[in-house]
Amino acid sequence: MSNGELKVSKIRNGTVIDHITAGMAPAVLKILGIDQGCPDTVIVAMNVRSQRLGLKDMVKVENRVLEAETVKKIAIVAPHATVNIIKDFAVVQKIPVELPHELIGIVRCANRNCITNVERVASYFVVESREPLRLRCHYCETLIEGPYASVLLL
Ligand code: CTP
Ligand code: ZN
Repeated sequence: MSNGELKVSKIRNGTVIDHITAGMAPAVLKILGIDQGCPDTVIVAMNVRSQRLGLKDMVKVENRVLEAETVKKIAIVAPHATVNIIKDFAVVQKIPVELPHELIGIVRCANRNCITNVERVASYFVVESREPLRLRCHYCETLIEGPYASVLLL
């Protein structure tokens, strides 16, 4: 296109995760559980121009509705993402992802001796800072920072 904007197919029904931090689409696919494939249409764009972010990634998944836990995980790897719910080609809902103040059962504690790794206790992190991301284990006070959180996603 003349303005250099990326043009990709619209979807009929499903979810468009837009404004993903550039380079994080693979992490989002993993969170969605479709990094090894998926029977439905999936459109992935990486490092495309965005008005707001400079470069961004985008993931469109047909026939998929995201659970609240999934949206929290996406907020960890892509804090500026927007989740668009598409019905009959129209955007019926646009939800900016937002990390809650506490994350329960979302991220594993990095401390092997933490009670959440030793016993059947759900992990529990307090979000001390969103950007840069700082998560503090409620039980053992281990600090998880930035991109490391994405490798600890449950
Ligand atoms: N989209 C899509 N299929 C549809 C409708 C929308 O794939 N049937 C995509 C658009 O391509 C866009 C995103 O969903 O990437 C959000 O659509 P829309 O709200 O119309 O775009 P913008 O106004 O540019 O969104 P924002 O303000 O969040 O940047
Ligand atoms: Zn811990």
